[in-house]
Amino acid sequence: MKTSPPATIEREAPAAEAAESSSLPETVNKLRRRLVWTSVWGFLATNFLMFLRFFFPRALFEPSPVFRIGYPSDFSLGVDTRFQDQYRIWVVRTTDRLFVIYARCTHLGCTPLWSPSENKFKCPCHGSGYDMEGINFEGPAPRPMDRAKVELDAEGQIVVDVSRLYTYKEFNEPGAYIPL
Ligand code: FES
Repeated sequence: MKTSPPATIEREAPAAEAAESSSLPETVNKLRRRLVWTSVWGFLATNFLMFLRFFFPRALFEPSPVFRIGYPSDFSLGVDTRFQDQYRIWVVRTTDRLFVIYARCTHLGCTPLWSPSENKFKCPCHGSGYDMEGINFEGPAPRPMDRAKVELDAEGQIVVDVSRLYTYKEFNEPGAYIPL
């Protein structure tokens, strides 16, 4: 008996097709599995990062409103602007008292600038002017600038508290100035 070659080809062809068709779903499965695991790990990693972020809240750490600025003898007569950037205050010394002006315009809250040549504070926003004691005399500002609470500590240093502000009517109250 003779075996004919075409019969062998006919038998091999379905086997190859079967092998190909069985490996195709396996490849798809692998891809699918990889996708699922990538998603799972991505999800877990994101949650872990969120968990870590929880320990670093987006809080604004503001400086304490109470601080020391030195001794009365550190300030000469007139306006001292050295704490303007750090604490938003000016220290003013007159012949009989020392007080601290909170550097906020009473019109809409801008920070005025001290002009030594004109001997006044000038607000850059709408032009209000204040004399060296913070009393308004020009522009739209409705009242003088507020003063911060001041007192001397046990060592004689000036302690300023900008959480307690004194308005014009309270300028002669204890705490609104330090007598010299
Ligand atoms: S905010 Fe100062 S004049 Fe308007």
